[in-house]
Amino acid sequence: MRRLTPEAVRFLAGPAARAELAALAGEPLYPLAALAALRKRWGEGEAAWLYDQAVLRRRARGKFPEADALLFEAEALEQASAWPVARWRAEQVFGPYERVADLGAGIGGDALALAAAGKRVLAVERDPVRAAILEHNVAALGLAGRVEVVRGDLRGIALDVEAAFADPARRREGRRSVRLQAMDPSFAELAGLAGRVPAVAVKLAPALDKAELPPEAGLGFVSLDGELKEALAGLGELAWAEPWAAVLPAGARLHGPEADPLPTGEPLRYLYEPDPAVIRAGLVRRLGRELEAAQLDPEVAYLTAEVLRSTPLARAWEVLEHGPFRQKTVAAWLAAHGAGGVEVKRRRSPVEPAVLEKKLRAALVSGGPVLTLFLTRIAGRPWAVLGRRP
Ligand SMILES: C[S@@+](CC[C@H](N)C(=O)[O-])C[C@H]1O[C@@H](n2cnc3c(N)ncnc32)[C@H](O)[C@@H]1O
Repeated sequence: MRRLTPEAVRFLAGPAARAELAALAGEPLYPLAALAALRKRWGEGEAAWLYDQAVLRRRARGKFPEADALLFEAEALEQASAWPVARWRAEQVFGPYERVADLGAGIGGDALALAAAGKRVLAVERDPVRAAILEHNVAALGLAGRVEVVRGDLRGIALDVEAAFADPARRREGRRSVRLQAMDPSFAELAGLAGRVPAVAVKLAPALDKAELPPEAGLGFVSLDGELKEALAGLGELAWAEPWAAVLPAGARLHGPEADPLPTGEPLRYLYEPDPAVIRAGLVRRLGRELEAAQLDPEVAYLTAEVLRSTPLARAWEVLEHGPFRQKTVAAWLAAHGAGGVEVKRRRSPVEPAVLEKKLRAALVSGGPVLTLFLTRIAGRPWAVLGRRP
């Protein structure tokens, strides 16, 4: 993609470019034909900027509401928070605060969500292209009255706010990292804000090393559609005393401390796989208590119970078969249940799911249901469980 400049953003935000982009939004986008047509009406540079925006808007539709009214930059779009997570955070984490700073706002994934949730937002961005796009996006969504965009370095900004959010870039010198000090700005720099702003929350990679966090920081994990999206470290008034997990889009929450060990044993009638946010927050046993469930093994995040309790915090399967893992045995189970497909999941098993799925194909019949095969360990023994979604 052609590198954007502030001049390109001015051009793209103008009425003629907006009309061209609106026309492109409704058509299939064939690269050669679209570029050739644009070049007939525009110069080489303008045609490339328009074409790239049309591509980026399509990519952004899954991430931003009203993507067809907004402008994007490729890397900033990749880094932007998913809208349901940003909205949830704005409402649930920053709920009590009226004036919130978004420090390193990019093209606005979070600043727009905070403003849409009714906050007055101070959005700081040092990259001139992103700041220009942010200003455009704020106006395009009719939020200019609520968002003040400040172009500059967050370290030199006066912060007259009640709370601050930061989503530091996870790349330095082009390399992706989950180390807190490798972020840009570093976690230490952001934690320093806690003295100047009453409440601070910092979005981090879910794979962070928890030991790198200062002991006073609170920590939670957020998932969306079963995928772990982010860790959130809280400082000052947001230094949560207990770890928590939030599961979206349901908005279900679980918080710690982790419960005492659960009873352990072989699968009962139902098997639960806790949501990844619950697992990462270290709250599997707490969830087990809520579900009145046992754990297959103290080291394995699978729960089991006789009675099914519906919860967004875990997925459940009806147990059809279980026993020590042998390929021949599980193939016979699949055949006996007339399975048409098998999805293999594993925890603490060395077997490669994709390899086993391939080997089990011969046991499947066409038109049968897709069943799930869990490979795990119970009391040190390799164990298999065949399940069906209830
Ligand atoms: C991961 S992006 C933010 C994405 C944003 N939360 C969203 O959802 O669209 C981080 C941004 O912080 C900006 N940034 C990094 N260090 C900064 C600093 N010291 N001052 C201001 N902005 C900074 C980068 O330019 C980048 O756009």
